[in-house]
Amino acid sequence: MHQFPVLLSLIAVSVLLMVTPVIGYRPWPHLKPNSSDLTLGSSKKFEGSSEFVQMRYHMGPVLTANITVHIVWYGRWQKSQKKIIREFINSISAVDAKRPSVAGWWKTVQLYTDQTGANISHTVHLGEEKNDRFYSHGKKLTRLSIQSVIKSAVTASTKPLPINPRSGLFLLLTSDDVYVQDFCGQVCGFHYFTFPSIVGYTLPYAWVGNSAKLCPGVCAYPFAVPKYMTGFKPLNVIGHEIAELATNPLVNAWYAGQDPVAPVEIADLCEGIYGTGGGGSYTGQLLNDKDGATFNMNGIGRRYLVQWVWNHILNYCTGPNALDQ
Ligand SMILES: *[C@@H]1O[C@H](CO)[C@@H](O)[C@H](O)[C@H]1NC(C)=O
Ligand SMILES: *[C@@H]1O[C@H](CO)[C@@H](O)[C@H](O)[C@H]1NC(C)=O
Ligand SMILES: *[C@@H]1O[C@H](CO)[C@@H](O)[C@H](O)[C@H]1NC(C)=O
Repeated sequence: MHQFPVLLSLIAVSVLLMVTPVIGYRPWPHLKPNSSDLTLGSSKKFEGSSEFVQMRYHMGPVLTANITVHIVWYGRWQKSQKKIIREFINSISAVDAKRPSVAGWWKTVQLYTDQTGANISHTVHLGEEKNDRFYSHGKKLTRLSIQSVIKSAVTASTKPLPINPRSGLFLLLTSDDVYVQDFCGQVCGFHYFTFPSIVGYTLPYAWVGNSAKLCPGVCAYPFAVPKYMTGFKPLNVIGHEIAELATNPLVNAWYAGQDPVAPVEIADLCEGIYGTGGGGSYTGQLLNDKDGATFNMNGIGRRYLVQWVWNHILNYCTGPNALDQ
């Protein structure tokens, strides 16, 4: 009974990707109004567990070589904001951070493999960065003009971002005064790949918007965020997108559901779950530092609050701060 839908999805993905590039216009709706239906398990212990979730591999590639994340800073970014984000990326492979750590969180992502059994890479490096300070494509971007922003970054006459489709990811971060099509209402970030007709290459990329001004609270967390945590906001979605890019870079590898146009990916299933007991509107057990700020994992220099991801072996959401680990 399970074989047939897998085959169907596989054929559907291949055919859709080859025949109708139009599906490339579709973002992945990470803030699905009803996605909590999927994450509400009957058991409080197994966060997000559900007999209905069938996370499946659809034969596409995953990022098994050392991953390099190249950043495009679009618009005006403060040095301090950039530092927090760089440090988060550098924390992913930092094995010596205090537990529970960001590297421990990435371990769940590493459980995913490709057809040959090769795991997602342990190593994530921060690559090159490009500043697009003067809003080269304006303050309102569409899903297509986002690809033009990436094209400008990889074809710039000075210090273009390097192209390496095997291990390079592009992370486009838009500042808080930039509106991207459907931002806030339907999406807070999405990942996809560029079209050779626009960019010249098929490159996995993710866009994450800074929601601080346009829709704080909608796109950062599903609950009110105290002021002192402002710096943490974008990280939640960035962790979400990087984990999904690694497991599903060309949108034909790891996702649940039968619809490749609206796949449910490994971080979607765990939206709003940050600790043991999480689900529904409860984040789960978190930690507090001495200033009262809430976090659930340690990076190399600071603490972060990052959403858990789906563990396809245990069939529930897991994270480094799980109480039963
Ligand atoms: C979400 O669920 C509610 C209640 O079950 C339903 O009325 C609503 O139409 C659903 N929304 C979407 C977008 O599916
Ligand atoms: C991958 O990263 C590891 C750890 O940083 C390094 O030892 C190794 O040489 C890298 N491999 C390649 C092919 O770059
Ligand atoms: C690689 O993936 C397999 C299957 O999910 C898992 O059992 C194994 O522990 C993973 N290895 C690493 C290094 O994560």
